[in-house]
Amino acid sequence: MVCERLRRVDVRMITLMGTAGVGKTRLSLQVATRLTALFVDGVCFVPLDQVSEPDGVVPALAQALNIQEEKGHSLFEQVKTVLRGQSLLLILDNFEHVLPARRVISDLLAACPGLKVLVTSLAGFNHGVAQCIGLTLCAARPGGSTQFPID
Ligand SMILES: Nc1ncnc2c1ncn2[C@@H]1O[C@H](COP(=O)(O)OP(=O)(O)OP(=O)(O)O)[C@@H](O)[C@H]1O
Ligand SMILES: [Mg+2]
Repeated sequence: MVCERLRRVDVRMITLMGTAGVGKTRLSLQVATRLTALFVDGVCFVPLDQVSEPDGVVPALAQALNIQEEKGHSLFEQVKTVLRGQSLLLILDNFEHVLPARRVISDLLAACPGLKVLVTSLAGFNHGVAQCIGLTLCAARPGGSTQFPID
């Protein structure tokens, strides 16, 4: 279900929400593996669990993309310039730490036509992005193995 939706041209972003430990990160990585052929420039996984402030999102993105800050240039502009020509899946893991930074995502999606974003988050994620689907994961039983609809 997740992969099928991300393959749709009209879907630019999916959020995976659910309680701690339900399997959001694991599912996002499985999706990335399945969809490598879809994204010519690959997948970029951005862990945000150590990022405590929304202002830390752009530096975390730049680090994951291996972009060095150039003096006199906005780091976010540099990130957009790099991503603008790319076909890439961006995974933003643990976005609940930086919810006010959702604007960064909409700006990126608007600037970069080949970009799709997969967000994992604990909290209800009010993204404000039109071409986004939100999915909530629920564990089948505590401590049990849960099969999520990855395809
Ligand atoms: N479908 C599954 N079947 C069995 N084990 C799973 C499954 N999904 C996740 N796990 C295991 O559960 C643990 C937590 O998974 P994961 O880190 O993906 O959860 P999470 O929702 O991202 O948690 P958090 O909210 O803390 O980031 C991991 O040890 C993982 O291996
Ligand atoms: Mg996680």
